[in-house]
Amino acid sequence: MIENRPHFATRLGVIATTVGSAVGLGNIWRFPYEAGANGGGAFLLIYIACIVVIGIPVVCAEFVMGRASRRNIFGAFRTLAPRGGRWWSAVGVLGITGSTLILAFYSVVAGWTAEYFVQSVCGSLADVASGERRAAFDSFTGGWRCVMWTLVILGLNCLIVLGGVRKGIERVSNLLMPLLFVLLLTLALNSLLLPGAADGLAFLFRPDFSTVDSGVILSALGQAFFSLSLGLGTMMIYASYFSHRTPLLKSAATTAGLDTMVALIAGVIIFPAVFTFGAEPAAGPKLVFEVLPDIFRMMPAGAVWSTLFFLLLLLASLTSTISMSEISVAYFCEQWGMSRRKAVAVNTSVAVVLGTLCALSFGPLSDLQICGMTVFNLFDCVASNIIMPLGGMLISIFSGWVLSRNVLQAELSPIPRALLRALTFSLRYIAPGAIAVIFIAY
Ligand code: PFF
Repeated sequence: MIENRPHFATRLGVIATTVGSAVGLGNIWRFPYEAGANGGGAFLLIYIACIVVIGIPVVCAEFVMGRASRRNIFGAFRTLAPRGGRWWSAVGVLGITGSTLILAFYSVVAGWTAEYFVQSVCGSLADVASGERRAAFDSFTGGWRCVMWTLVILGLNCLIVLGGVRKGIERVSNLLMPLLFVLLLTLALNSLLLPGAADGLAFLFRPDFSTVDSGVILSALGQAFFSLSLGLGTMMIYASYFSHRTPLLKSAATTAGLDTMVALIAGVIIFPAVFTFGAEPAAGPKLVFEVLPDIFRMMPAGAVWSTLFFLLLLLASLTSTISMSEISVAYFCEQWGMSRRKAVAVNTSVAVVLGTLCALSFGPLSDLQICGMTVFNLFDCVASNIIMPLGGMLISIFSGWVLSRNVLQAELSPIPRALLRALTFSLRYIAPGAIAVIFIAY
């Protein structure tokens, strides 16, 4: 069964699908609020450094492990490690735990997007005056409608995942990603014309290192991992569907490049508006949802733009939730021999319980604080700042030290010798070392 695994049909399919997993709410919702809360320019520089120095090598490692084993994260460690990789497959536990926590809170935010899409279609989004936006948003997120949307998203995700990886996702992503890109560029141009553009761009691009502490560095690292869907085995499972002709390093660099570009464009859309409309850059998870409606309100045919934007963002978040679900689903199917239906049912049931808790943490459960965080923030912090970098560290140590050099070289070839050496060096020393130092300093 594994040997006959289907492949992505085209190279565009490979890029669109991995970019489909990487690009989503992480770029358009999470990046701006993390940058806003962590001082702007300096955060951006550290984030880019994390992508280049740690992110791209770890994407390559996941690609190599996925394609060489043609299995999910557990199976990959078991197949590729000498002596069956019993201990190494514990990284799979991290992957499943992390992806389930992310699916829970991510579905809540995808639900906010769905609500904004419906409000854009009905025209009611533009009806709320700028000053009342915060109260309106708080009343929505604090109510049952927000829970309802979370469940709708999980239902949609369940239906798509049931259909299998290749069929739907490749086709949808091929069309969706280019469209989203063009729309974002148009919105960025529009934001550059706002009166607060200069202040917004200065905030995003002029680094002020006096604001940097170990917390800012850990957040940038977490954002890099979150945005690239790294450390959980997502890229591994997708690479298990790559054909042997797919160039891994080039695909990793393209995915990381496009993903970072989308985050930057999202920053260029949001921060000029933050400074134009007097929002607070450090407003946290609600930032983008408070600012975007003001942008659309000032645009000609704003309702059309906002409908299109929230629809594409919704689809982009679904291409990401699918990839999160695929980690557990592939594990249950390949390791436990479960039917796809049953595996999807287990994955969705757990996500429904945890997702409801996350949704309620903006309303009835807002007083439930664990380590000073709501359930929503706790899931995000544990998954993005601990599990993903830890998973990435173990994956890079495995690929650099344990995996046979021949496998690494064969999967990455054709690749210039110097690049192979640099990549191996990064997987052995730089990526795990940097992650360890950031953890210890924190
Ligand atoms: N990278 C996705 C985003 O930026 O929206 C989020 C994500 C997808 C995280 C898949 C983790 C994952 F396994």
